[in-house]
Amino acid sequence: MKVLYLLVSILALASSVSFAYDPSPLQDFCVAIQDPKDGVFVNGKFCKDPALVKAEDFFKHVEPGNTSNALGSQVTAVTVDQLFGLNTLGISLARIDFAPKGLNPPHTHPRGTEILIVLEVAIAGLSSQNPGVITIANALFKSNPPISDEVLTKAFQVDKSIIDYLQKQSWYDNN
Ligand SMILES: *[C@@H]1O[C@H](CO)[C@@H](O)[C@H](O)[C@H]1NC(C)=O
Repeated sequence: MKVLYLLVSILALASSVSFAYDPSPLQDFCVAIQDPKDGVFVNGKFCKDPALVKAEDFFKHVEPGNTSNALGSQVTAVTVDQLFGLNTLGISLARIDFAPKGLNPPHTHPRGTEILIVLEVAIAGLSSQNPGVITIANALFKSNPPISDEVLTKAFQVDKSIIDYLQKQSWYDNN
């Protein structure tokens, strides 16, 4: 028993400390700047000198969107491009205004997942500082140069005249 105790003690002394979680981020924030002239760090975007960072770098006032359009909705994105303080924080927001019976058309965010919170208006939180957005109908029928109508006719299994009709629509973009 004593031998086992001694062995365990020696093994305990021989082991090194290990951490089973991500190392701490190098910095708590990195407010992006457009002009790298005054920047000190690079992390996706150039960062403002931390000594010059203000509370306003993390604040954005968003006005209600104008929903008088073909979709009856307007998305106002607040990504790293609108709110530089979001840089490296892995999150962004969007405000979506809807007119009665308005629609936010089917779309994907190639770089982010999304949580929707419906208040009086809807606020969407995305898991990326710059999630991107691809509105499916617009991507298919409004692309320039256009997707071949032969391809679309086969893909949707409809008559070519229907695809031609769809490609002629104006496809309002609410983003
Ligand atoms: C909203 O958009 C419509 C259509 O473009 C325009 O006629 C109207 O003036 C806009 N309203 C505001 C408050 O900007």
